[in-house]
Amino acid sequence: MPATSVIGAQWGDEGKGKIIDLIADRADVVVRFQGGANAGHTVIVDGQKSVFHLLPSGVLHPGKLNVIGNGVVVDPTVLLEEIDQFESRGLELRNRLLLSGAAHCVMPYHRTLDALKEGEKAGVKIGTTGRGIGPAYADKANRCGVRLWDLVDEERLRVRLAANVADVNRLITALYDAPPLDADALYETARAQGRRLAPMVTDTGRTLRGLLAEGKHLFFEGAQGVLLDLDHGTYPFVTSSNADSLGIAAGTGVPPTAVGHQIGVAKAYCTRVGAGPFPSELHDEVGERLRAGGGEFGATTGRPRRCGWFDVPAARYAAQLCGFSGLAITKLDVLSGMEEIGLVVGYDVDGLGRVDEYPVDTPLVERARPVIETYPGWSEDIRDVRSYDDLPSTCRSFVDEICRRVGVPWELLSVGPARESTIIRSVA
Ligand code: GDP
Ligand code: IMO
Ligand code: MG
Repeated sequence: MPATSVIGAQWGDEGKGKIIDLIADRADVVVRFQGGANAGHTVIVDGQKSVFHLLPSGVLHPGKLNVIGNGVVVDPTVLLEEIDQFESRGLELRNRLLLSGAAHCVMPYHRTLDALKEGEKAGVKIGTTGRGIGPAYADKANRCGVRLWDLVDEERLRVRLAANVADVNRLITALYDAPPLDADALYETARAQGRRLAPMVTDTGRTLRGLLAEGKHLFFEGAQGVLLDLDHGTYPFVTSSNADSLGIAAGTGVPPTAVGHQIGVAKAYCTRVGAGPFPSELHDEVGERLRAGGGEFGATTGRPRRCGWFDVPAARYAAQLCGFSGLAITKLDVLSGMEEIGLVVGYDVDGLGRVDEYPVDTPLVERARPVIETYPGWSEDIRDVRSYDDLPSTCRSFVDEICRRVGVPWELLSVGPARESTIIRSVA
C-alpha cells in the first residue's frame, strides 16, 4: 500500500500532530523522518493534552508501531523524559517504538553551542528553539556526530565523546570565553541513557522496507514546515533539516516511490515563530486577535507566534514542491466572528508591480509587500460542525478559494483542537 505523508505547508505549527493522531488509526506505522525536539506537536484526546517533541504523534493509538528514523536528531534526555511521562500514564510504548541506530544524538554540547551562537552580538539571530538542532546536524554533515549506534556501544561512545568534547572545549573557551565541559560527566550520563535506549535501537530502514513489502500502511510525520526547510525555506531563517516531503526517503531509508499520498497541513491563516521574513504578517490588532483566538504560543518554547493572513503563493510553492494530493486546513474556527478575512494572493516587490509567484530568494521575500483580497467572514460558532455542507456559506467559499488558488483539494477541515472537531472528505 502506498505510504502517506503529513507535511507542514507553512512555517510550522500548522496542526500536524492533531492530523496525524486523527488519521493514525488507518496506519500500521507512524514514522518521524527529520527534525528533533524543536518540534512541538499537540494532540488532544478526551480533553487530555499531550505535546510530543520526539515521539511520533501516533503513539496514543495502542498497537501501532512508531519509528524514529535516521534523519531525526535525537536528544536522549528529552526522549527518555517523554517515554517516562507517557508510560507513567499507564500506556505501553517500549514494545512498539523503534529508533534508528543511524539517527544522530543531540548532545549537551550541541545545546551549549546553539545558545552561544544565538547569543553572539554580531551574528544573525535565527531565534532557534535552543534545542541544539543546528549544531547536531552540523556535526552530522561534518562526520563527527554521535549516532544512536555509538550511544549504545560504550567503547565507541567514549572515544567519540572524548574527541568531540576536546574540540568543543577548544572552541567555546577561545571563541566565547565560556567554561569548558566535563567529558567524563557527559560520558557517564550518555552511557546510562544508551543502556536504557539500547533495546529499541535497530536498522529501522530495513524494518520499514520489510513492512512496505508486506503491504503495511506507513505514515510519515513531518516536523516544522516547508518554508522552514533547510534548502527550500527562507534561508538562513530555517531549521537544519529537510522539513518537506523531500526529506522522507533520505531520513528513513525507504525509496522515494514509497509515498503515494501527501497531505499538506495549513492553518486558515499563517504563523511563524522566530526571526525571518513573513510577508503576510499583521502587526495590528487583527494579528493580536489571531494570536489570542488561536492560542498562538509555541508548544516547545512558549514564545508568542507572529500571525498573519493565509499566504496563497507561499502555500502553492509548498504544494508544488511536495506534490501535495490534499490539504488539511486547520483552525478555521479561529476565524469565526471576524467581519472580513484576508487572503494574500500575490506580492509587490520593490514597487515593480504585482507578482503571483512566491519569490524564494530570502531578501526578495523580505521586501515582498502582500497583495491582499478580503472575503466576508462568518459569525457562527463552527466548532460543532461535522460536514462541509453545514459550514456557513462564507466559510465554504473561503475554503474553496484557498483550494482553487493553491491548486490542491481539501481532504480535512479542522474546526477545533480535539480529535473529533474535524470534517473529513477522504483519506487514502
Ligand atoms: P504542529 O507543530 O503542527 O503539530 O502544531 P502545534 O501543536 O505546535 O500547534 C497547533 C495548535 O493548534 C495546538 O495547540 C493544537 O491543539 C491547536 N489546533 C489544531 N487544530 C486546531 C483547530 O482546528 N482549531 C483550534 N482552535 N486549534 C487547533
Ligand atoms: P513544529 O514541528 C515552528 C523554528 C524556530 C526558528 C527556526 C530554527 O512544532 O511545527 P531550530 O531550533 O530548528 O534551529 O530553529 O525554526 N522552528 C519551528 N517553528 N514549529 C516548529 O516545529 C519549529 N521548529 C523549529 O522558531 O525560527
Ligand atoms: Mg508545533
